[in-house]
Amino acid sequence: MSAGAARRCLLALLAAAPAAAAAGTEDRYPEFADEHLTAGRVIWVENCMTCHGYGIAGAPDPNKAKAWAYRLEKPRETLYDHALNGFFGPDGTMMPARGGNEDLSDAEVKLAVDYMAAVAQRANDLADEQAQSEAETDAVAESRLDPRP
Ligand code: HEC
Repeated sequence: MSAGAARRCLLALLAAAPAAAAAGTEDRYPEFADEHLTAGRVIWVENCMTCHGYGIAGAPDPNKAKAWAYRLEKPRETLYDHALNGFFGPDGTMMPARGGNEDLSDAEVKLAVDYMAAVAQRANDLADEQAQSEAETDAVAESRLDPRP
């Protein structure tokens, strides 16, 4: 492929990605009743979704329960610090300070972190519920196989 064609191809991909993702944005990145999180969502969608919404550069998608389970266990202050000042994770992936937007205030970055943590918490709660209901289904199946009282 010529450099020109490669470039056009890349541009087409970049143009298509937000359109494709926009369709599912409401489901994947819901509004929460809490005003604090509503404000956080606006900042997050504008500044953080570019990476975190698509797994760009290894950014953890808050809808991936596993990617966030251990991060949710970090003190919130640590997550704020990593978002404000940047952070190199154990896999060598890098969170740039303020997501690369120097114009964001500390308060805005923290709101976006809180929003992302709320989505990640929701994903983890759903994963726990699923694991729970699978365990119950297995228990019922086993009790049917085992006729003893
Ligand atoms: C250029 C891509 C990019 C942008 C934009 C970006 N992030 Fe990240 N972020 C990353 C990557 C990559 C990681 C994973 C770092 C690691 O743990 O290895 C990460 C991790 C994080 C973490 C978890 C840190 C930890 O301790 O595990 C938080 C919190 C975070 N980002 C918040 C934000 C917020 C808030 C914004 C928007 C203001 C944002 N990010 C924008 C790439 C990005």
